[in-house]
Amino acid sequence: MGKKIVVITGSPRKNGNSFAMTDAFIQAAQANGHEITRFDAAMKNVGGCHACETCFKTGKACSFDDDFNTIAPAILEADAVVFTMPVYWYSIPAQIKGVIDKLFSFVVGGKDISGKECAMIVCCEEDDLSVMDGVRIPLERSAALLKWKIVGEVLIPGVLNEGDVNKTDGCGQAAALAGKF
Ligand SMILES: Cc1cc2nc3c(=O)[nH]c(=O)nc-3n(C[C@H](O)[C@H](O)[C@H](O)COP(=O)(O)O)c2cc1C
Repeated sequence: MGKKIVVITGSPRKNGNSFAMTDAFIQAAQANGHEITRFDAAMKNVGGCHACETCFKTGKACSFDDDFNTIAPAILEADAVVFTMPVYWYSIPAQIKGVIDKLFSFVVGGKDISGKECAMIVCCEEDDLSVMDGVRIPLERSAALLKWKIVGEVLIPGVLNEGDVNKTDGCGQAAALAGKF
């Protein structure tokens, strides 16, 4: 059965490695009958969480004028959420971290977002898989806290420049990930 999948990207590079894998995932997921809502965090205006804990008090997820509010309804409704990003300084890029931080709004607002499926597509320059720990571990722990089930992780090391992912099977793995929902 077709699922509603929200895909949240973190790279500012439209022709970059994580976008190429994202596109491969989306194409395969749509071919499998899933409905995709894509949110390119780096092309949006999402700030950090103010920890004001007034989320949803006036109806919108974030009380500030923030593009998170344009994706929040889709996240609420989604069966699954897929995060795609490069590693920046052994960690999650700031561009997408704001979106992840603002998932807190659902907790504060008393919205039940448990039971979703989740996956990640991550890449980095260095060859060592552990370089992606700074992305993988926070996402795994956040998913556990939210009671989301991780159905797959595509972790592609050794890609630096745009197009490098085509020398790996990253796009193939990302397409195969779509079969896990
Ligand atoms: C600000 C910045 C920080 C980075 N930090 C790391 C890093 O800590 N480790 C690493 O292996 N690669 C690092 N990289 C390289 C990217 O992860 C790599 O180029 C990746 O393929 C970019 O993905 P994209 O094309 O989807 O943007 C960094 C790149 C940038 C721009």
